[in-house]
Amino acid sequence: MRTLNRIADLRALVQAWRMAGETIAFVPTMGNLHAGHASLIDAAHHHGRRVVASVFVNPLQFGPTEDYAAYPRTPDEDAVLLAAQGVDALLLPVVEEMYPRGVATSTVVDVPGLSDILCGAFRPGHFRGVATVVVKLLNLVQPDVAIFGEKDYQQLTIIRRAVEDLCLPVRIVGAPTVRAEDGLALSSRNLFLDEGERAIAPRLYRALDYARRRLMGGETDVASIETEGFESLRAAGFRPDYFEVRTAATLDRPQGRDVAVVVLAAARLRRARLIDNVQCRAPGPF
Ligand code: PAJ
Repeated sequence: MRTLNRIADLRALVQAWRMAGETIAFVPTMGNLHAGHASLIDAAHHHGRRVVASVFVNPLQFGPTEDYAAYPRTPDEDAVLLAAQGVDALLLPVVEEMYPRGVATSTVVDVPGLSDILCGAFRPGHFRGVATVVVKLLNLVQPDVAIFGEKDYQQLTIIRRAVEDLCLPVRIVGAPTVRAEDGLALSSRNLFLDEGERAIAPRLYRALDYARRRLMGGETDVASIETEGFESLRAAGFRPDYFEVRTAATLDRPQGRDVAVVVLAAARLRRARLIDNVQCRAPGPF
């Protein structure tokens, strides 16, 4: 595995692969890698001859009161895992090269409508930071395919929209959420959970799964599913931000019959803000 810090070195390597006619699959991450990230690397091998991964804790996507400084950084372990997964190149960009004019004065990518709902309503500017850094990384690596986890469903939807709107020549692939045995979605932020909180955490997935079963069973009262889901999280000891049923493709409110829906929730357990979602087809009508 080649490890690269400089953008020019990455460009040279990618150009050589392209000249040789090799396809490239790309997996961007913020590091502190776990089995969820590893599953994206597995998927990448199915989509490209060469696999590039990046680790960059992107300052632009953290709010002023969020955990940028405390975000777990484990560069040595990450490199070992990625090399073992057969990654060809690991890009570790430095902030000064990614944001040469500083974070506050850089050109940004905004995705109106999708960026300010759900998590965006609670984390102003977060998805602008995500869309901006992902578009920059895609322009640097110029992969044929880029892989993102469905765990961050709103992020995946926003990236698909930005790529379409900006005519970027890359295929975006979503990969299923990897969970612990008790259902908790793997996340770098699970590290912030103490033992008691870790015991409560799987109830987020259980609440989502219960809503999914109601929807698949033909329940059409979305408002009551959302309120009950929200209240069940509160009763379990979370501080929920939202619990919502949306159309899977657009994140609009579901309408009509036989709709592909996604149920999304975000909830806090002291320091940790957990997000998760489940998808299903719902007979409706809505
Ligand atoms: P990060 O949280 O490190 O996640 C990197 C990728 O791994 C994302 O596509 C995310 O959805 C995926 N992922 C995380 N946990 C997963 C799980 N349990 N199962 C499957 N996939 C999982 O998401 C980001 O970084 C950043 O916002 C980034 C896109 C890199 C932009 O900075």
